[in-house]
Amino acid sequence: MSTAATLDKPSSAPEGAKGTASPYITVTFRIRRFNPEVSDESTWQDFQVEIDPKERVLDGLHKIKWDMDGSLTFRRSCAHGICGSDAMRINGRNRLACKTLIKDLNPDKPITVEPIKGLTVLKDLVVDMEPFFQAYRDVMPFLITKGNEPTRERRQSAADRERFDDTTKCILCAACTSSCPVFWNDGQYFGPAAIVNAHRFIFDSRDEAGEQRLEILNDKDGVWRCRTTFNCTEACPRGIEITKAIQEVKRALITRRF
Ligand code: SF4
Ligand code: FES
Repeated sequence: MSTAATLDKPSSAPEGAKGTASPYITVTFRIRRFNPEVSDESTWQDFQVEIDPKERVLDGLHKIKWDMDGSLTFRRSCAHGICGSDAMRINGRNRLACKTLIKDLNPDKPITVEPIKGLTVLKDLVVDMEPFFQAYRDVMPFLITKGNEPTRERRQSAADRERFDDTTKCILCAACTSSCPVFWNDGQYFGPAAIVNAHRFIFDSRDEAGEQRLEILNDKDGVWRCRTTFNCTEACPRGIEITKAIQEVKRALITRRF
């Protein structure tokens, strides 16, 4: 079932100045709605939104929530691609709503917005992130060292820092893990984000728990489940070369050199 809602005159669409064309266009947002208190089934709902094509999908969701239907539920915080809370499936691809411009989505057609896959939907676009964060915690994503506290900072060469530079960029948005077919089929797989965050410490010359992390990822639900589909690399809003990082972890497991 699908329903539709329109707003005659959005409060956020200013009148065009005399002699200038308004930049606003009408875009259909087709949103997957789910409310377990109402129904076990999810439904599509259309909203007609007046929006500047240079605005982002997140701006459209705000217009809907603030002006049309306050019950629409989604996560967001920073609105600038830093907090990682607004990953969602937009036109069938995992993206951050706050980094996706309307003009890049062919606004002549309805823009579909769905929750990311492979995690239980709690309401509308909000999923249960706990299994994702549990896998993250399992790889011990923090510096582990032995011996006494050092009396000066732990030095590291630029070359050593470079080895894990890419994987420091992760914002834990789950766009990668929730685009992985192995994760969809079997939620037990650690998933790419956990491996990325293990990589960040395994290849850090200051860390001394690389062997432990490798053993964790040597598990039947660990790194060997990866089928190298590259979905994760394509989905990452930070441009992290995730598949390459996973390959490096696999190689380290075989050679025990890292
Ligand atoms: S690796 Fe990229 S896609 Fe995956 S959680 Fe981190 S930032 Fe998001
Ligand atoms: S709202 Fe923070 S990354 Fe999009």
